[in-house]
Amino acid sequence: MHVTHLSLADFRSYARVEVPLEPGVTAFVGPNGQGKTNLVEAVGYLATLGSHRVSSDAPLVRMGADRAIIRAQVRQGERQQLVELELNPGRANRARINRSSQVRPRDVLGIVRTVLFAPEDLALVKGDPGERRRFLDELVTLRSPRMAGVRSDYDRVLKQRNTLLKSAALARRHGGRTMDLSTLDVWDQHLARVGAELLAQRLDLIAALQPLADKAYEQLAPGGGPLALEYKPSAPGEAHAREELYEQLMGALAEVRKQEIERGVTLVGPHRDDVHLKLGSLPAKGYASHGESWSYALALRLASYDLLRAEGNEPVLVLDDVFAELDTRRRERLAELVAPGEQVLVTAAVDDDVPHVLAGTRYAVADGVVERA
Ligand SMILES: Nc1ncnc2c1ncn2[C@@H]1O[C@H](COP(=O)(O)OP(=O)(O)OP(=O)(O)O)[C@@H](O)[C@H]1O
Ligand SMILES: [Mg+2]
Repeated sequence: MHVTHLSLADFRSYARVEVPLEPGVTAFVGPNGQGKTNLVEAVGYLATLGSHRVSSDAPLVRMGADRAIIRAQVRQGERQQLVELELNPGRANRARINRSSQVRPRDVLGIVRTVLFAPEDLALVKGDPGERRRFLDELVTLRSPRMAGVRSDYDRVLKQRNTLLKSAALARRHGGRTMDLSTLDVWDQHLARVGAELLAQRLDLIAALQPLADKAYEQLAPGGGPLALEYKPSAPGEAHAREELYEQLMGALAEVRKQEIERGVTLVGPHRDDVHLKLGSLPAKGYASHGESWSYALALRLASYDLLRAEGNEPVLVLDDVFAELDTRRRERLAELVAPGEQVLVTAAVDDDVPHVLAGTRYAVADGVVERA
């Protein structure tokens, strides 16, 4: 798929902007702070309902405005669709498809698909487990949009179970009544059922991603690998199928129940898992150099891109400020890898940072004005 038109209203620094887009490579070039990343961030938002830079919507709305609109005309094969999101910080966001009546924001997932690589992705390698979980879950949802519902069910069940545990912990501390444990049993089953569904998808994803990430790293930094992605579940075990994962989670919940009641939080489940990223025989986190960590994160994104392409509907590839960080050889390699993509959006501070193989449309971005160069 590709985006044929992007229009923003009160999004980030833009009061209004209209950007016609074509398939192939489009580069947004301009000095720092002019609004290049803001454009691609908006495209990424349509694909994930989140920003790659901030965790809440408030900074996405132009200072002084009370809502932002992201609208994109999308083409997939012969099919044209118009998606529109209205961001209302503090209130529910709204969504429309083809100017129809309102749908839930999550109903637009799957129309715009992106793989976005940005400097923030260094956190995939160096950051907390939460970064890697978000990476997996966003990709799981791109592969299968119905997983958005599973993820929000999981978050809801987890929250309710934690509330229950918290009140149990309080009652215990104040020497009050012990709680009725049958209620907790029911929440264990909910958590394990939804958790197992999410886990099964994550494990399947890791298995598919591993060889592709290894290949991408080899292409970027020959001889530097191999890469290994190892899923580290908080509920120990080797299960892969959903039913077994359910049993594994139920077993682990039973084992930690006493601790959970003492501490008042859920201690096992997909929200406590991690992925260990290895480079050669060492963990990447804490060991890999800056350049290696950067290539590792990039390899994970390129692998995501390959995977989604191989599974059908080709995503838009977004490379935010990537080339300046790479030496000439890696730059050329990356450019050759991505040049054939259906649509590639690139941002760069100077023209020379964009490799020649990526000839295509150029936009100059300055002072919030986006103009064909
Ligand atoms: N909610 C907002 N309201 C108004 N302006 C904003 C808002 N959010 C960000 N900005 C402005 O947008 C600008 C940053 O835009 P952006 O991140 O797209 O820059 P860029 O062109 O990618 O720069 P760089 O080359 O440094 O990456 C900043 O000047 C910032 O003040
Ligand atoms: Mg930027």
